[in-house]
Amino acid sequence: MIEGLNRRVFLKTAGAGAAGCLVLGQASLQAGTARMGSGGDDPVSTPLKTLAEQKGFLYGCEATLSELSDPPYKALVVSQADLLVPGLALKWDVLRPTPETFDFSQGDWNLNFARQNNMKLRGHTLVWWDALPKWFKGYATQQNAKQLMLNHINTVVTHYAGKMQSWDVINEALLPTDNRSDGLRNSIWLQLVGPDFIETAFRAAAAADPQAILCWNEYGIENESDAAETKRQAFLQNLRELRKRNVPVHAIGIQSHLDATDPKFPGEQFNRFLHQVSDMGLKIIVSELDFADGAPDPDVNHRSQVVAAKYQQYLDIVLKHRSTIAIVSWGLSDKHTWLNNGYRFPRKDGAPFVPLPFDANMNAKPAWQAIARSFENAPPR
Ligand code: G3I
Repeated sequence: MIEGLNRRVFLKTAGAGAAGCLVLGQASLQAGTARMGSGGDDPVSTPLKTLAEQKGFLYGCEATLSELSDPPYKALVVSQADLLVPGLALKWDVLRPTPETFDFSQGDWNLNFARQNNMKLRGHTLVWWDALPKWFKGYATQQNAKQLMLNHINTVVTHYAGKMQSWDVINEALLPTDNRSDGLRNSIWLQLVGPDFIETAFRAAAAADPQAILCWNEYGIENESDAAETKRQAFLQNLRELRKRNVPVHAIGIQSHLDATDPKFPGEQFNRFLHQVSDMGLKIIVSELDFADGAPDPDVNHRSQVVAAKYQQYLDIVLKHRSTIAIVSWGLSDKHTWLNNGYRFPRKDGAPFVPLPFDANMNAKPAWQAIARSFENAPPR
C-alpha cells in the first residue's frame, strides 16, 4: 500500500520489491508452467508481480468483490498481482445510491483486501459516460451537473486520499465519430458541464489527493487502423492542450481490450504514439488488458497459443517504453472475464473466449508464460 509516499518517490521505487521466487499454487504447477526466475530442478515459477517489480513497473488485475470471494481465485490474484483494480466498486452506480449519499462499503472492502494482501489500489473510475446510477439522467441538469461531478470527485478522492496508486479520473471521453473538432464524445458530461469537464475533473482530483497518479483512460487506440490513428491524434491534441494549461494529468490508460485476430495489430503507429506520450512527460498504464480470440478454431489449445503469441508481441512494444509503469489484466482467469458475460459479441461457435493468463481452473496458460517472457525481456524503468 502507498501511504505517505509521494508520486515521484512511488514512481522511482515501484520496482524495488523483493525478487523472491515463489512456487505457484499446485493447480498452476500441474499446467507445467515454464521454469522461470532462478531455474533449478523444480519447475519454480516467479509470479508476474515479481517479474514486473524486478523491472520497476507494476503488474495488476481487475477483480470484483464477488470474484475475490472465490477462494482459488483470491489466492491466484494475491499470488500474481500487487495492484488491484475494483471492477465495479468505485463506479457511480455502486457508490451513489442517491444524489445526496455515498456507499463506500464495497470500495472500503477492496481497500482492506488490498491492505491485507500487500497490494496497491487503482481507482476506476471518477467520470465516465457509463455505469451511472438510475437516478442520474432524471436528476442531472446543466445547472447542477458541474457541482454534482465536483462533489463526487471531492468526496470520493478525499475518502481514499493517500491510499490510491492511481485514479482513472476520465474514462472514454474520446469519440471522433461524434464529429467534434476536439474529438470528444458527446457524452452526458460534455452536454451538461461543457468540454472543460475534463480539466475541472483533474484539478479537483489533484486537490483532493496530491499523491495519486491521475490518469485519462481510453480504448480503441491500439491498432494500426485509421480509426485508432484518428483517436490517438485526438487524444494527443487534448493532452497537449491540458499540459499547456498545467492541468495535473500524469498518465494515460490504454485499455488494451485486444483482438487476437486483428489484421491491423498494434505496430509502428502505436509505437510512435507511445513515444509522443512519453515525450510529453506522461506515464503509460496498460489498464484493462485481455485478448478476445474470435477465430473459428475448434482447438482451444491452439487458440491459447495464438493469444499467447499476441500477448508477447504487444507487451514487448509497450514495455520498451520506460514510461510504462503498470500492466493491468482485466481479470486473471478465464473463469472471470467480462468477455464471457454477454457484454460483447460471443464467439460464433458459442465456445468461451480464452483471453487471460490463467484458465478456468486457475492453471497457468501459454499466455502467462508469454507475459512472463515479455516482463523478463523488458528494459528496467
Ligand atoms: O452482479 C449483477 C447480477 O447480480 C445481475 O443479475 C446482473 C444483471 O443485471 O448484473 C450484474 O452486475 C453486472 C456487473 O458487470 C457484474 O457482472 C452489471 O449489471 C454490469 O453493468 C457490469 O458490467 C461491467 C461494466 O464495466 C459496467 O460497469 C463489466 O463487468 C466490466 O467488465 C466493464 O468494464 C469496463 C470498464 O469499466 C471500462 N472499460 C471497458 C470495460 C469492459 O466493458
